[in-house]
Amino acid sequence: MKVLSAGIALASSQLTYLVERNNKVFNNNVDSSIGMLKEVENPRVGDDEVLIKIGATALNRADTLQRKGSSPPPEGASPYQDLECAGTVESVGKNVTRWTVGDEVCALLSGGGYEEKVVVPAGQVLPVPRGETFLIHGGSSGIGTFSIQIAKHQGARVFVTAGSEEKLTFCKELGADVCINYKTEDFVVRVKEETGGKGVDVILDNVGGPYFQRNLNSLNVNGRLFIIGFQGGTITEANLGCMLARCLNVQAAGRRTRSPENNALIVSEVEKNVWPAIAAGKVKPVVYKSFPLYEAAEAHRLMESSKHIGKILLIP
Ligand SMILES: NC(=O)c1ccc[n+]([C@@H]2O[C@H](COP(=O)([O-])OP(=O)(O)OC[C@H]3O[C@@H](n4cnc5c(N)ncnc54)[C@H](OP(=O)(O)O)[C@@H]3O)[C@@H](O)[C@H]2O)c1
Repeated sequence: MKVLSAGIALASSQLTYLVERNNKVFNNNVDSSIGMLKEVENPRVGDDEVLIKIGATALNRADTLQRKGSSPPPEGASPYQDLECAGTVESVGKNVTRWTVGDEVCALLSGGGYEEKVVVPAGQVLPVPRGETFLIHGGSSGIGTFSIQIAKHQGARVFVTAGSEEKLTFCKELGADVCINYKTEDFVVRVKEETGGKGVDVILDNVGGPYFQRNLNSLNVNGRLFIIGFQGGTITEANLGCMLARCLNVQAAGRRTRSPENNALIVSEVEKNVWPAIAAGKVKPVVYKSFPLYEAAEAHRLMESSKHIGKILLIP
């Protein structure tokens, strides 16, 4: 073991001369005014454990108590302080199936957050939460205005396309993060720009044929394209190579052709997953205009003009 330096605020960047294979820990158990960075052996990974290379930890009040000797670590835990960390899995024990090397994770620790590397039982590890990126075509449509709200509520970064600045402004007010005017911008280019070249994780598409290739081109690795409409037509020609290369998934979903049992399943999923968001005021209906039932033809003309934003109602 080699004592390297002292001082609580020592930055890890100052330690680049350390030997990589060794674990560096900050040890201020001994004294409240000075701390020591020292080099120790890498921790050994048990069969049910994961070794995490720590990217960041955060202080807990308990750390100060441990430093003063009044909150010793439990038996078998790291003698060093701290109860939490985020980082990257560096190795896994032979019984661990959920985690693989390279996973970005956070963990609840019994000690050891002040180390560069820490072992933790696999059950105390969580994936770093990541909101997916989600492109909604026709963001101002009845379906689009709902989708923006529920996706934001679930933590996604939401992209929308729409055909006018007024509609895009409305989408932004509903929570959309990236608003693309499909009449003046190429959505594929914009999606790539906004995602550092990766593409989005999920696309909801109502255009169909003319967007098929461009949608595939806009998807991230393991991306999913859900087609719910064919406003642009059903026929297309596409280069499917990118589907293999990026493991893409394409699914189309109609509703009227489903069995009553399947429709009932959809309804129960909506009740479970969407109703609470509506009850909590996180998702609100967007109503553009109401017509008396006898003016249904007028309502159709409005829908076909595409001037509306959100839903058009008929009142008997
Ligand atoms: N599969 C299902 O279960 C299911 C169920 C319900 C509805 N749908 C389908 O979902 C779609 C939306 O339904 P809705 O009732 O919400 O209709 P809606 O309010 O009339 O919306 C249609 C939207 O399509 C947009 N649009 C048209 N061409 C576009 C393009 N090239 N790029 C991007 N957006 C474009 C329009 O935007 P602009 O006005 O800005 O052009 C408009 O916002 C329809 O195609 C409908 O058939 C499917």
